[in-house]
Amino acid sequence: MFKKFFEHFSKDMGIDLGTANVLVYVKDQGIVINEPSVVAINTRNEKIVAVGDDAKIMLGKTPAHIIVTRPLVDGVISDFEVTEKMVKHFINKVHRESFTFMPRPRVVVAIPLDVTEVERKAVEDAIRGAGASEVLLIEEPLAAAIGAGLPIQQATGSMIVDIGGGTTEIAVISLGGVVSWKSLKLAGDKFNEAIIQYARDKFNILLGERTAENIKIQIGSVLPNEKTIETTMRGRDLLSGLPKEVKITDANIREAIAKPIKLIVDNIKSTIENTPPELVADLYEKGMILTGGGALLAGIDTLISQESKIPVAITDEPLTAVVRGTGKVLDDLENLKEILLPSTKDSGYN
Ligand SMILES: Nc1ncnc2c1ncn2[C@@H]1O[C@H](COP(=O)(O)OP(=O)(O)OP(=O)(O)O)[C@@H](O)[C@H]1O
Ligand SMILES: [Mg+2]
Repeated sequence: MFKKFFEHFSKDMGIDLGTANVLVYVKDQGIVINEPSVVAINTRNEKIVAVGDDAKIMLGKTPAHIIVTRPLVDGVISDFEVTEKMVKHFINKVHRESFTFMPRPRVVVAIPLDVTEVERKAVEDAIRGAGASEVLLIEEPLAAAIGAGLPIQQATGSMIVDIGGGTTEIAVISLGGVVSWKSLKLAGDKFNEAIIQYARDKFNILLGERTAENIKIQIGSVLPNEKTIETTMRGRDLLSGLPKEVKITDANIREAIAKPIKLIVDNIKSTIENTPPELVADLYEKGMILTGGGALLAGIDTLISQESKIPVAITDEPLTAVVRGTGKVLDDLENLKEILLPSTKDSGYN
C-alpha cells in the first residue's frame, strides 16, 4: 500500500548513459537532461568543477590542476567514481525542483550489446550509487528500436543501426529479442580521431578534439556533394609550433573518415548475412532504421542502402531515440518487462 503510494510520486527515470551524451527521461515529463558525458575535476582537492555542457566548453582549455575527462569510453564505464558522480549530479538536478521527501527512483538504463558481466555490473552499481532504488537494464539497440517506434515484439524482423560516439550497435530484432548483431567499438569519436590524424598527416596541423568534431558536423559527408563545401580549420602548426589556419573541403573529410565508415558498412552487411532468411525478407520490405548521432552524417543512409541493398531511413531525432525508448519502457513496464536484461544481482554474480 505504501509502496504503491510512493511509486505514484517517485520520479522513475530512463537514462541513456552514452559515451558522448547522457540523456535523462522522467516519467510524465519527457527528456529533462541532454548533456555531454564530460566532467571537469580539480586535481588539487578531487572536487568536481563542472559537469555536462559546462565541462565540455572547458575541454582543451584548462590550467594544469583541472582535468576534463570523459568517464565512459567505447560505450562502457572507464572511470567508475567519476561516472557515479556525473549520474548523481544529473539525478540531483532532476530532483532539485521536486519535493524533498521524494522516494528514490527506479531507473531504466540502456547498455551496449557486447559488454562483460563486470562492465554491466559497474553500470548498475553506478546508477544505484547515484540514488536509484532499482536499476533495470535494457540493450541499447532494443531501446533505440522502441524509441524509433519499431514493432519489436512482433514476429517480424526489425533492423536498427545505432551509430553513437563510442559504439556502433547493429541488430536485427524479432519477438522482443536480438536475433543477429554486431557491436563495434567504432563510432563518432573514431571519426573525429580520423580527422585529427588526417589533418596531421596531410597538413601538418594539430587539431583539438572539439575542432575536429565541429568540422565533421559542419562539412562531413560520406558521398560526394554536388558542390564543394569548404571550411577553415584552426590548430597548431606541427613544424613551427605556431597557430595555423588551413582550408579543408568535404572531399578531404570523406577521405579522412573513409576507413571507419567502410568498417561500419561491412559489418552491417555481414550482420544481414548472418540473419535467418525469413527475417531478411522482412528487412527487404521494411528497411532498416538509423539512430544515434552518427545517423546525422550526411549521406550515410544512402550509402548504407546502396551497399546493403536494403532501404534505410533515419529516425526522427536520432540523438534521443535510446532515451525515448527507455521512457516508453517505463510507461509500459508490465508489457515490456520481459525484454529487459536480468539484473547481475539475480544472476548470483556479485
Ligand atoms: N550532425 C552530426 N553529424 C555527424 N555526427 C554527429 C552529428 N551530431 C552529432 N554527431 C556525433 O554523434 C556522436 C554522439 O552520438 P550519440 O549521442 O548517439 O552517442 P552516445 O549515445 O553518447 O554514444 P554511445 O552510444 O556510443 O555510448 C558524436 O560522435 C557526435 O560527434
Ligand atoms: Mg548511444
